[in-house]
Amino acid sequence: MHSYSLIAPAKINLYLEIIGNRPDGYHELAMILQSIDLADQIDVHAASTQTIRVYCDHPQVPIDQTNLAYRAAELMARKFPDAFSNFGGIDITIKKRIPVAAGLAGGSTNAAAVLVGIDLLWNLGLTKSELEELGATLGSDVPFCISGGTVIATGRGEQLSPLPNLNHINIVLAKYRSLEVSTPWAYQTYRQVFGSTYIKDTKDLVARANAVHSGEMVKAIVAKDAAEISQKLHNDLEKVVLPAYPQVLQLRELFASQEGVLGTMMSGSGPSVFAIVESPAQAEVVKQQIRTAIPDEDLELFVTGTITTGIQIIRNS
Ligand code: C5P
Repeated sequence: MHSYSLIAPAKINLYLEIIGNRPDGYHELAMILQSIDLADQIDVHAASTQTIRVYCDHPQVPIDQTNLAYRAAELMARKFPDAFSNFGGIDITIKKRIPVAAGLAGGSTNAAAVLVGIDLLWNLGLTKSELEELGATLGSDVPFCISGGTVIATGRGEQLSPLPNLNHINIVLAKYRSLEVSTPWAYQTYRQVFGSTYIKDTKDLVARANAVHSGEMVKAIVAKDAAEISQKLHNDLEKVVLPAYPQVLQLRELFASQEGVLGTMMSGSGPSVFAIVESPAQAEVVKQQIRTAIPDEDLELFVTGTITTGIQIIRNS
């Protein structure tokens, strides 16, 4: 039976600025998204029956329509009904390594892999921008996950402009397994606390996007200067998540106090926290120190690094 195996990397936010509220209920954002070397494996198989089925080795991951990977397959079946009936159904197997509900785009990158996998399985020949357009209807981070790398994301997060490759920046990542932060809650709370700037004038948006493009973080990325990047890390959602989740605040402070940590920040709407460190050896030391300070097995710790790719095909059988 025909199938594709794909690697679906996680992302972190090096920069997340909330520009204002949009008439569609979302928030206008200026973000810098970065792929990291922490990935799930997605296998997309042609099935013999006209069904969509999801299998996953992680107990917290739903296998029904609430899983974004399932919805990605459903979207493809709806958009390409002839291919769906010609090629049969879809079985999706997810090998989970990315922490779930973490602010690392785990669900979005799985959905991106399903779009890419089905495009290949059904010989649709979709372009990158067609896949991104389909992805945007599933979630704001899905378009980024398709090609990954280092990207400025504006609008809802779906308008992408690539930045120069930022490879091998060393990262330590931490997430409490049992802690989840609702993304809608984080954005709504931000809106309640920091007011409601409605975005009407697109000229202001262009000016804001230009400011991000020429901003300090972009200069640091172009210079591939890990220390400078670490100084410019920014995430507006920390303003609401850190006060409400003391464990996240504690992690953030613990990382900041470690020798060799250049900078630390929460990713997306959290609750994962990452630190940029000087070297792979330093990353192991920092990981060990955090483990010693918080021996709780609920805390997951990863040593990883930045990568320049999104969805990768590893096997076709
Ligand atoms: O796009 P996605 O479904 O991933 O977004 C999840 C939630 O995050 C949205 O329902 C919304 O509450 C919030 N969000 C937002 N503004 C964005 C992106 C996400 O308010 N630009």
